[in-house]
Amino acid sequence: MLELILNQVHKQFSAKKAVNGISIRFNHGVYGLLGSNGAGKTTLMRMICGILNPTSGTIHMNGEEISHMGERYRDMLGYLPQDFGYYPDFSAEEFLWYVGSLKGLSLPAAKGKARELLQRVALSEVARKKIRTFSGGMKQRLGIAQAMLNDPSVLVLDEPTAGLDPKERVRFRNLIADLAKDKIIILSTHIVADVEYIADQILVMKQGALLMTGTVEQLTAAMEGLVWTCHISSREVEEWNDRYCISNLRHEGDQVELRIVSKEKPSDRSTTSVVPTLEDFYLYHFQDEQAAIAGEGKRGRIDGYFNPV
Ligand SMILES: Nc1ncnc2c1ncn2[C@@H]1O[C@H](COP(=O)(O)OP(=O)(O)OP(=O)(O)O)[C@@H](O)[C@H]1O
Ligand SMILES: [Mg+2]
Repeated sequence: MLELILNQVHKQFSAKKAVNGISIRFNHGVYGLLGSNGAGKTTLMRMICGILNPTSGTIHMNGEEISHMGERYRDMLGYLPQDFGYYPDFSAEEFLWYVGSLKGLSLPAAKGKARELLQRVALSEVARKKIRTFSGGMKQRLGIAQAMLNDPSVLVLDEPTAGLDPKERVRFRNLIADLAKDKIIILSTHIVADVEYIADQILVMKQGALLMTGTVEQLTAAMEGLVWTCHISSREVEEWNDRYCISNLRHEGDQVELRIVSKEKPSDRSTTSVVPTLEDFYLYHFQDEQAAIAGEGKRGRIDGYFNPV
């Protein structure tokens, strides 16, 4: 039984409150930490990994404060940092042997574990190739393998899907589902689809705080009655985009099918209420930030939404 408990965790960087009073309990399972740029995901994960100390608040693993556990906690932990540095001239297997030695594994143990993990992340065939020749997805899979070298019970992956193509994303999801048994896996992303299917719990983080936590079903249930579809002509798209929060649009000849997130039913057209998705939820709660990122007002929301990376 694993139990990682955060109690009123804060992190302040001079004037910036990066994490603002987070309390949560993790047991076995996959937790998707979802939030936009600067929400505080990396800061929270670094505190969970014991790399950063909270300004205030406590983090306990199985009843013991992690800052008192030292090596015993590090032995339980696997971490893929957001800005993970690879050695481009190492081969994949050399890199894993090297990280294994840093984690205190003997060379034979590191070699055995490296072989097993390379197979698990589907890199066996390129085990002897230099990392500089790897695609983004291959590097991310190697990053997950290095985090797994010590058989961690807590696996923390910071934006593990960044730079992956759609096929690699699916492969990644399958890998996580496969690893999830008997572990706490915490992974951060700002891409809804990456956590929608694999996370048992979604933690939605905004401006340093947890906005909401729950299963996909629980989060989307709160959106019932707020999502609509209707058809308009393509000439009207701009006007509707200014009036409403558009979560999707699809061209059908000279007609456009809109998906709208709105408290009120758009009344001047025949609209149908539809079942909300996690994307609708995210857009609804982060529409102001999407606009700020796109930098061009409401119209930018659609662009920002379709290009979340
Ligand atoms: N070492 C630091 N010193 C000062 N401010 C920091 C430091 N680390 C993070 N911050 C600030 O804290 C806030 C949260 O940053 P953090 O990196 O945790 O966000 P994030 O959710 O991981 O964002 P992203 O999606 O871009 O990775 C940001 O405003 C950031 O500028
Ligand atoms: Mg980050």
